[in-house]
Amino acid sequence: MSLTDSLGRVHDDLRVSVTDRCNLRCLYCMPEEPVWFPRSEILSYEEVARVVRILAGRGVRKVRVTGGEPLVRRDLPVLAGMLARIPGVEDLSLTTNGVLLGPLARSLARAGFVRVNVSLDTLDRSRFHRLSGRDALARVLAGLDAAAEAGLSPIKINSVLLRGENDDEAVPLAAFARERGFEIRFIEFMPLENGGAWDLARVVSGAWVRRQIESRWPLEPDPDADPRAPARRFLYRDGSGAVGFINSVSEPFCADCGRLRLTADGKLRVCLYDDRETDLKGPLRSGASDSEIAALAQRAVRGKGRGGALEILERRAAPPIARTMHQIGG
Ligand code: 5AD
Ligand code: SF4
Repeated sequence: MSLTDSLGRVHDDLRVSVTDRCNLRCLYCMPEEPVWFPRSEILSYEEVARVVRILAGRGVRKVRVTGGEPLVRRDLPVLAGMLARIPGVEDLSLTTNGVLLGPLARSLARAGFVRVNVSLDTLDRSRFHRLSGRDALARVLAGLDAAAEAGLSPIKINSVLLRGENDDEAVPLAAFARERGFEIRFIEFMPLENGGAWDLARVVSGAWVRRQIESRWPLEPDPDADPRAPARRFLYRDGSGAVGFINSVSEPFCADCGRLRLTADGKLRVCLYDDRETDLKGPLRSGASDSEIAALAQRAVRGKGRGGALEILERRAAPPIARTMHQIGG
């Protein structure tokens, strides 16, 4: 039985957050004074792998490891190896801020990650420091090089532009990605940090970014793009690769959303913006069977609403949620 909701959306895509901790403090993601989950609340690798195996038995095919920052969790390659061996998992990927990627890229690739997404919002060292709280741009750039050398492919860059902060970097970031053979995707600023930094006026729309890039390098829609994918994908007409726009605020993609999220503390979330979570950690630790866990997931998916992102546009305000991004995982 697959994980299909009442609107017919098939859930085959799971984001696994392995920690809420992070070595950066990006202002669009972290509250100023984050409170970390106690270690005992964090799922062990065995528990994570069990959930993934059970959900893969219900049709999950894509698994993305996220955080917080996943590479701050010890021995992440060990988890990668466990997940890569689960029957049904066809696509195992990683989202990281890249700071620790340099030393780890090779072992992550060997363990089973095929591709990686690296967050990069600026190419300016002091701005990086200001936006992320740490002077680590050089390490991220070294991490990208290491990922390429380790054979991870494709390497995608996720960029969030904020109006008045780094919106002048759309073209420089795109140029950087084009030159290195990375695929850049611009993600609209979503109301998830909860500290009050979000405001519709600070959202840089994907349409605007596209116009900046198009005025420099003509684009054409990718004829082979997956219409269900969140990123609107375009090809440079000069053949230098692709660029994507994840218009999560201006063009919500809830209608095609087949994503589930497992938080580091073992809750299943059916929507970024929906706080009604299903606890799996309790059942995992009190002897529930695989089919009981699967039934809990099935019930959570059946209860999924049409999607929280739709509301932001309708109400021009952020849906109130208790968790911030670092506690959910992109
Ligand atoms: N809006 C948009 N993207 C965000 N990310 C984190 N917080 C936000 C937000 N409020 C992105 C990160 C990373 C991915 C996991 O999610 O930049 O690339
Ligand atoms: Fe999926 Fe919820 Fe995001 Fe919509 S808002 S795309 S339903 S996670």
